[in-house]
Amino acid sequence: MTTQEFLGKENFTINDQTVSESCPSNIALIKYWGKYKDQIPANPSISFTLNHCKTNTEMEFLANETFSVQTFLSGSEEVKFAEKIEKYFKNIEQYLPWILKGKYIIRTENTFPHSSGIASSASGFGAIAKCLMKLDESFSSENHQPSTINQKASFLARLGSGSACRSLYNGLVVWGESEDVLGSSDLFAVQYPNSEVHDIFKDFNDWVLLIHEGVKSVSSTVGHGLMNTNPYAERRFQEARENFVPMKEILKNGDMQRFIKLVEHEALTLHAMMMMSDPAFILMQTGTLEVINKIWNFRKETNLPLFFTLDAGANVHLLFPNNGSEEKIKTFIETELLQHTQKNGVVKDVMKF
Ligand code: PMV
Repeated sequence: MTTQEFLGKENFTINDQTVSESCPSNIALIKYWGKYKDQIPANPSISFTLNHCKTNTEMEFLANETFSVQTFLSGSEEVKFAEKIEKYFKNIEQYLPWILKGKYIIRTENTFPHSSGIASSASGFGAIAKCLMKLDESFSSENHQPSTINQKASFLARLGSGSACRSLYNGLVVWGESEDVLGSSDLFAVQYPNSEVHDIFKDFNDWVLLIHEGVKSVSSTVGHGLMNTNPYAERRFQEARENFVPMKEILKNGDMQRFIKLVEHEALTLHAMMMMSDPAFILMQTGTLEVINKIWNFRKETNLPLFFTLDAGANVHLLFPNNGSEEKIKTFIETELLQHTQKNGVVKDVMKF
């Protein structure tokens, strides 16, 4: 598929509509960090889609009114978010030619705490893109296959927030062209084939330790931009591409030790890139490092499969499979790790598929 194939058709009839959609968040195992124009990723990434952390969105479209967007997050009006969405809608008009021909009232809520620092942009833009595709289907004269609709939703979500395009699929999801994943594309995400995934990865926990609640000191947008002048960027992009080779083998054969090593390496590399940016920045907090050290000691002592990944923030995603050892791991988390969070904050999610 090329960008041209996503252009919208001029045959449409609009009317007042209210649609609702829900979209989960996702956590990357091989990270996307660095991009080119039009949200083209500098390297392919792969993520797990979460089951509980979701955004629920209701979109009211008032046809033929002057274009404007009003947004509410958990009932409170969010003017800044509305401005962002207005800009986004103007940016995607060529793909949905009716989009500026009405007024929007968007009501959205997250199933996870607002101030938690869990990326709401992935689930948020995912849910908005799904609502837009629902409107598009009802306004257009042709009916499309659900898979085509979802692919275009992923394409549109990408233009809102890169990692959002992965939230349109369950399980393991790849975004970015990789010679190791059939059908992968820079323009939208694809589901990683379930038949190529060992059962151990199909029932996994992701407990997010809320180390630092609140706004990050450096946004993802600024962070991606700093990769343009980072002298290590090219090497990093190449490494991420190369990491798909061992990742494919590991996903197939269920080698947990290699999986742990690769996933933790990816998380630390993401943060190393931040430290090697100019200006440098650090999003980890003292608690992040304390938790990482405790996880490493715990693994050394028990050999149990508890490990971590990080997104662009201080929170630690604790990953562990449901394979019989989870009760011991949960007890360790409650007694040893929770004390490093701000308010005993933990969001317990799973990846089941
Ligand atoms: O989608 P963005 O622009 O918020 O970037 C997200 C980048 C990371 O979360 C750090 C990594 C990833 O692949 O999700």
